[in-house]
Parts: sequence; C-alpha cells; structure tokens
Amino acid sequence: MLKRRKGFLAMVFVVSLWLPPRAQGEGEAMLIEQGRMLITPFKQALMAELKAALKQGPEHAVIVCQERAPQIASRLSSQSVQIGRTSPKLRSPSNAPKSWVMPYLEAYQKSPSGASPKALLLKGGWVGYVEPVFVAEMCLPCHGERLDKNVAAILDALYPGDKARGFKAGDFRGVFWAEFRPKRPER
Ligand code: HEC
Repeated sequence: MLKRRKGFLAMVFVVSLWLPPRAQGEGEAMLIEQGRMLITPFKQALMAELKAALKQGPEHAVIVCQERAPQIASRLSSQSVQIGRTSPKLRSPSNAPKSWVMPYLEAYQKSPSGASPKALLLKGGWVGYVEPVFVAEMCLPCHGERLDKNVAAILDALYPGDKARGFKAGDFRGVFWAEFRPKRPER
C-alpha cells in the first residue's frame, strides 16, 4: 500500500515537472499581462527620450538609442527581471536574440499581421515574454530607406554590420522581451 502510494506521488511529481513549453490558457494570459507591465515603463521612457532628442535632429537622437536604451533596460532590470530589445535585422550585435526568442522572431516575420505578445515557460521557474514592435514614421530617420547623409555616416561608424535600415512604416521591426519570475496569483 505504502509502496503504491509512493509510486503515485512520484508520478504526480513527474507529471507536474512535465510542463508544456507554452504557458496555456488563463495562465498564459496572466503571464502576458505581467510581461506587458514590465515592458511598458521601458517603452514609455525610451519613446519620451527619443521624441525629445529627435527635436534636435536625428543625429543627436542616435545617442539616446545607443546609450540610453541599454541604461534604461538595466535600470528596470533586477534579480528577478531582465528586459531588452532584439530583432531579426540587428543594428547592434549586443542586442542579439536569446535562443528562446528566435522562433518568435521567425513567426512574427512570417506573419506580421496579427502578431501579438506571447509568454512561455523557461527553465528554473522563469517566464519569457515577447512583444512585437512595428516601425512608425518617427523611426524612419534612423531605420528607413532614405537616411540623411550625416545620420548614415554616424550609423556607419558606430555599427559596421548594421542590418536595421530600409524599413517602411508598418514593417515588423523586432521585439521587446522580458525574462522574469512570475508573481503567484493572489488567492
Ligand atoms: C535617432 C535614431 C533612431 C531612431 C529615431 C530609432 N532608432 Fe531604433 N535604434 C537606433 C540605434 C542607434 C540602435 C542601436 C542601439 C544599441 O546600440 O543598442 C537602435 C536599435 C533598435 C532596436 C534593437 C535591435 C537592434 O537592431 O539593435 C529596435 C527594436 C529598434 N531600434 C526599434 C526602433 C523603433 C521601433 C523606432 C521608432 C519608434 C526606432 N527604433 C527609432 C537608432 C534609432
């Protein structure tokens, strides 16, 4: 009897370890919401600084993207949260995608219309969150088809392998991502 019970408990334990790679249903919606709340202050801070800097011209704003984006990301990161930006068409190699993000980049690129945020379970109780980003008019001075000569020269100097040019408004550009330890729902 005791033996059978132990066997049963072992099985429950194994089954509960075997989690599907994608968080599902209501659970996924809750994790997506937690991810969205972690990314929102990053997006807002970056946009505000970018808009302000663009008023002085795109060549001044390049520094915002280059220095401030990683600074804001690390300010908003902690022991239980890491956030960043990545893309299939990278400007900076330091934004290279983590391996769990790659399949999402491919999927978003294949069907950008209807691309929506996703959450998945990672190892060690972490959750991965991705949110697609699209090109707006205000991105074009630095990511568009026709760049100002000075801007192009600055970008050439800073990013020799730059692939993040030639976009049109509405194109899929990349993702904001987060890795975090989820908060348990309150009961
Ligand atoms: C003033 C120039 C400028 C503008 C405007 C700009 N970017 Fe960028 N963007 C950059 C630079 C420079 C980098 C590289 C940053 C780094 O070194 O981490 C970058 C990097 C990125 C990345 C990270 C992935 C990569 O390729 O390195 C994403 C995503 C991105 N930009 C999206 C956007 C979007 C969306 C907009 C419009 C809302 C935008 N950018 C507007 C200059 C700009």
